[in-house]
Amino acid sequence: MEEQNKELEEKKEKNPKGFESHEFVAKTFYGLEEVLAKELLQLGARDIQELNRAVKFSGDMGFLYKANLCLRTALRILMPIRTFKVRNEQQLYDGIQKINWSEYLGLDKTFVINATANSDNFTHSHYVSLKVKDAIVDQFRERFGKRPSIDKERPDLRIQVHISDMDCTVSLDSSGESLHKRGYRIETNNAPINEVLAAGMILLSDWDQNSDFIDPMCGSGTIISEAAMIARGIPANIHRKEFAFQRWIDYDEDLFDVIVDSSLNKERGFDGRIMGSDRAFSAFKKTERNIKHALLEDFIQIEKKDFFGSTKPADSKRGVLIFNPPYGERQEKDLEEFYKNIGDTLKHGYQGYSAWIITSSMEALKFVGLRTSRKIKLFNGPLECRYVNYQLYDGSKKASKNTESEA
Ligand SMILES: C[S@@+](CC[C@H](N)C(=O)[O-])C[C@H]1O[C@@H](n2cnc3c(N)ncnc32)[C@H](O)[C@@H]1O
Repeated sequence: MEEQNKELEEKKEKNPKGFESHEFVAKTFYGLEEVLAKELLQLGARDIQELNRAVKFSGDMGFLYKANLCLRTALRILMPIRTFKVRNEQQLYDGIQKINWSEYLGLDKTFVINATANSDNFTHSHYVSLKVKDAIVDQFRERFGKRPSIDKERPDLRIQVHISDMDCTVSLDSSGESLHKRGYRIETNNAPINEVLAAGMILLSDWDQNSDFIDPMCGSGTIISEAAMIARGIPANIHRKEFAFQRWIDYDEDLFDVIVDSSLNKERGFDGRIMGSDRAFSAFKKTERNIKHALLEDFIQIEKKDFFGSTKPADSKRGVLIFNPPYGERQEKDLEEFYKNIGDTLKHGYQGYSAWIITSSMEALKFVGLRTSRKIKLFNGPLECRYVNYQLYDGSKKASKNTESEA
């Protein structure tokens, strides 16, 4: 650790620009802003500010690398490079031309523009990207007689332009593919949960990260994989092949290596057990392959098992269950029966545990028949869901009436 700090100090002396502070914006899902802000604080970010589906923060380039590598609830991290007012396309063109693009792009490099517009003056985002491209290309042609080209698949620089009313923000996307693509999942089941959402659900729960953890409908094993990485302190994106910042012209490979090493050094021990099961043999096999690929097979126990009628392990006093049961692809009557079975199994088999389920079936939830301790609004893709907690007391307190609090 001391050696890594020394290496960082030496790098700072050689390349002070890489250690200048920048403002960044990490994007996330609705409802995960607070856990993302907490993650950023623990990682060492400064000036943290929660926004809608995003968190603003500041740090140096090394911190940007670390944030991409370690954050569990960020979808991508943007580095804003200029904001200006725009009322028409000429102002957009002029504003883009004021940026010195040679700082970010070489003639032999490629780029792509992703534009979003929420403004009466700009109704077509495609048109915004074309105008921005023209402004960048014209700047290179005027200076060098040549221009860098567009590459939509694997560009060296991903430029994000966002227009909201009259405010235009130009950012560089440091992540590339969404950060939920951790690189460990090789098999998917029906309706796999997004890794960022799975990690967010775990971090929103009351799991102490040291007691038993169960996903009894684990599908392809996303929730248990995220739980094992959290419990062990393994960086979320350690298996990812690439981040967009690795193609930037100022990318410092040595610095990234130091950051990877120091992040791996923070792995820790864990006293509990992480357990996953599913009644479908195909799901069990997929989970088996995924956790092996994630190098997590020593930390997770899996089983092919029906949840209904099951009980917690005989030697387990307390722990957490987190799962996403099927939502609505069944007949209504079956769904009621299914959620009633969930409630009965939890009540009789998991006393002393805290159970969390996410579902978009608000109607079916009523059939669980247990007292709700917390209810949080989240989205699973386009589906509005409730993430609900039941405290399963061990005999002394009875689960009875429904009381709800919504965050
Ligand atoms: C929505 S999927 C879970 C997806 C999972 N979270 C993932 O990321 O891949 C629901 C899973 O519940 C399983 N399932 C349904 N009924 C079950 C039961 N009674 N016991 C155990 N598993 C069950 C299904 O086989 C399916 O894999």
